[in-house]
Amino acid sequence: MTEFIEIVGGKSLQGTIKASGAKNAALPMLMAALLSEEEVFFQNIPNLLDVDLTVNLLEQFGAEVKYAQGNIAVKVPALRAVEASYSLVKALRASFWVLGPLLARGRAARVALPGGDAIGTRPVDIHLNALTKMGADITLKHGVVFASAVNGLRPAEIDFSFPSVGATHQIMMAAALTKGTTVLKGAACEPEVIALADLLNKMGAKIEGAGTPNVAIVGQETLGGAQVSMIGDRIEAGTYLLASVITGGDLKVEGIDPNHLGDFLEILSNLGATVETSPNSIRVIQKNNIRPINVTTEVFPGFATDLQAPLMAALTLAEGESTIEENIFEGRFAHVQELARMGANINVSDRTATITGVRNLSGAPIEASDIRGGAALILAGLAAEGVTSIGEIDHIRRGYEKFDSKLRNLGAQITCRPEEIEDIAAVGC
Ligand code: UD1
Repeated sequence: MTEFIEIVGGKSLQGTIKASGAKNAALPMLMAALLSEEEVFFQNIPNLLDVDLTVNLLEQFGAEVKYAQGNIAVKVPALRAVEASYSLVKALRASFWVLGPLLARGRAARVALPGGDAIGTRPVDIHLNALTKMGADITLKHGVVFASAVNGLRPAEIDFSFPSVGATHQIMMAAALTKGTTVLKGAACEPEVIALADLLNKMGAKIEGAGTPNVAIVGQETLGGAQVSMIGDRIEAGTYLLASVITGGDLKVEGIDPNHLGDFLEILSNLGATVETSPNSIRVIQKNNIRPINVTTEVFPGFATDLQAPLMAALTLAEGESTIEENIFEGRFAHVQELARMGANINVSDRTATITGVRNLSGAPIEASDIRGGAALILAGLAAEGVTSIGEIDHIRRGYEKFDSKLRNLGAQITCRPEEIEDIAAVGC
């Protein structure tokens, strides 16, 4: 059922919440189960649409999946198919990452090209060049990547032109089931890459250097089963910490390694917040007005592009002018026009948004256009005067588990309602 969010703004958030398991670690790790005949058991899996889509995808390839209270067991005794259709890849862009595991185990794969989406063109050249170096024969026809490796993939030395997170996942998975040593230079260093490498090692691969630009993967002929618990979601945690900033709150997120936030903790301090960390939690207290800052999105440990929109929401209420340069995904500014409807003063030129702080935001009907942009709108609604109603909230549900009840537990006045009720209200029935 389509829903919208209604927020009555102006409540300062106080309390403690637990970070959910990291969505962006869960997706590639679930896909890694394709590499083995044995069961891989996942704990602390977030209950999110993107996880459901990934599980559906795996089932199409022959996975037997069992759910038990936030845990998922995946076993793929044999690959039943090696094709991911456009409708699947369109619904979940990360589905494209199954290309490598399918090729490594099934020696052939057909996966639709993801195409563009709301946050930029998002090409896959780095993925395809790397798989070609590993001996895959790749052709593109009718929007589909046809790939085969009749004699199996072979280890290679691969130099990425950019540290793509998805390409690093894809090649680590493919190389883990390719006998010999594959060397990856210029790899992504995000915590989710380390989490995937840890799982692949438990399954029998030998990966060294994950979390640095140089990764060596000693692949095996077969991989076994494993049991693994998901790391905490750094982007979800960062979003809630910004909710503390924008509402002048005192909020602690548990179940998160502060090191996974990289430079973001310093950004929070620069906003005027007091930041306290323990090995497993982060607390942010915002007593002062929000200070303006200038930041650029970068690869880890730099400021994460996935926190760009939520940070922008907070900066709309800063005391002065801030800038955010979006360096990772061009065009990731769909939230700007919605924030403007709430009274924000933001000017976008090319890749840079200039945000001139205003005294107040005012609640308005607005729409989410992607996961993180949607989260930014929730933050703005929490701080705005009056009522904010946000449509298209399925985008937000893709990345934020139980966000409404988590925020309510912190004192927010937020409700999700079915769309029909709004329609009825609109005609005065
Ligand atoms: C992942 C995350 C996403 C995050 C992003 C960057 C998941 C499910 N998604 O996306 O939330 O915002 O990392 O941290 O984990 N690029 C190319 N050619 C390629 C591949 C990528 O040019 O073959 C470009 C992209 O267009 C983009 C940049 O590289 O400009 C970063 O993309 P990438 O790191 O691959 O992001 P994703 O893995 O898609």
